[in-house]
Amino acid sequence: MYMEEQDLHDLAAFISTSLIDSGALLDADNNSAGDAMNGEELYGNVCTNCHGPEGNAINFHPPDDPEFLGHLAAGNPWEFVHKVRYGQPGWPMPSAIANEWSDQDVADILAYAESFPTEAVESSGGQLYDKWWVVAGADEPTEDQALWATQDNNTRSGKDTWRCKECHGWDYQGVDGAYSSGSHMTGFAGVLGTTADVSMFDGSNADHDFSAMGDFYMEAMVTFMNEEMSDIGDYVNDDKTVNGDPSFGADLFEGTFGTGLTGGGSDSGARDATCGGRWPLARIIR
Ligand code: HEC
Ligand code: HEC
Repeated sequence: MYMEEQDLHDLAAFISTSLIDSGALLDADNNSAGDAMNGEELYGNVCTNCHGPEGNAINFHPPDDPEFLGHLAAGNPWEFVHKVRYGQPGWPMPSAIANEWSDQDVADILAYAESFPTEAVESSGGQLYDKWWVVAGADEPTEDQALWATQDNNTRSGKDTWRCKECHGWDYQGVDGAYSSGSHMTGFAGVLGTTADVSMFDGSNADHDFSAMGDFYMEAMVTFMNEEMSDIGDYVNDDKTVNGDPSFGADLFEGTFGTGLTGGGSDSGARDATCGGRWPLARIIR
């Protein structure tokens, strides 16, 4: 792949005007010279939504050798600074420059991230229910899931056919719930109230093989299903109206999703939440 002339000009302009010496943000031990308290606030406003409060909700490496923000902050602060300033190519991650943050702000976030654990978040199971490969750091599926061919109403293909929610619904009720009709209807059963175990995902059932997420995440998935999944039908009515307080919801929306959306991107989970109807929003909020 070659760069177009315009890209080369952009790259040259980038190098001459916006490259900073990220080393200047670090002290002699390569620790951030920033203010972790300010970093905590900035991080909480924008980054928590995707990376989790402790930076370990998204894994950047293969599932068996995870890398979280805590690893990167400690091990490669230069890469951390670069990616926070410019965003991550191909991902809906807002860049600090787009947010008009100063380099000091970036150093502050780094200072805060240096306190993050390098263990995976225990409760990431719920996030696996959607695009589990993003959370687990697995390769994005390209072929259709094996069971997909056993239905023909839902005409999506490729990676979408691997999302738990595409077959079992955001309300976990499959064909008995919101996906009982319409373009998402597959006719597959719900999973609400079932007792899950790892053998349902590890390839023991070759047609329902999600082992690409790795052992840790399969366990997390099972924990989510057995202990955390609850009937969100209690909050969402059949006509898709919700039982809740809109003014409180508006505050949550601003605080939780508002700033995170500046990066845009059609693949963003947050956009799914806002554009895809009320079911997904209820799931992500709880
Ligand atoms: C809309 C969701 C979203 C938001 C908000 C977000 N990120 Fe990200 N971030 C991602 C995704 C997705 C990746 C890429 C994961 C991958 O490459 O596998 C990523 C990657 C990164 C990386 C690079 C990791 C690597 O090794 O390649 C860093 C550093 C990072 N994010 C820091 C932050 C910080 C700090 C914030 C807040 C300023 C933030 N992110 C906000 C979704 C987000
Ligand atoms: C392509 C559609 C599809 C996808 C994607 C899918 N499933 Fe399933 N799932 C099924 C079907 C069909 C069954 C029942 C038949 C079978 O076991 O082969 C099932 C069965 C289950 C069961 C057992 C239910 C019971 O009553 O015993 C659980 C639990 C489950 N799935 C959870 C998940 C989770 C979690 C994910 C995401 C990691 C997922 N499924 C992704 C189609 C799918």
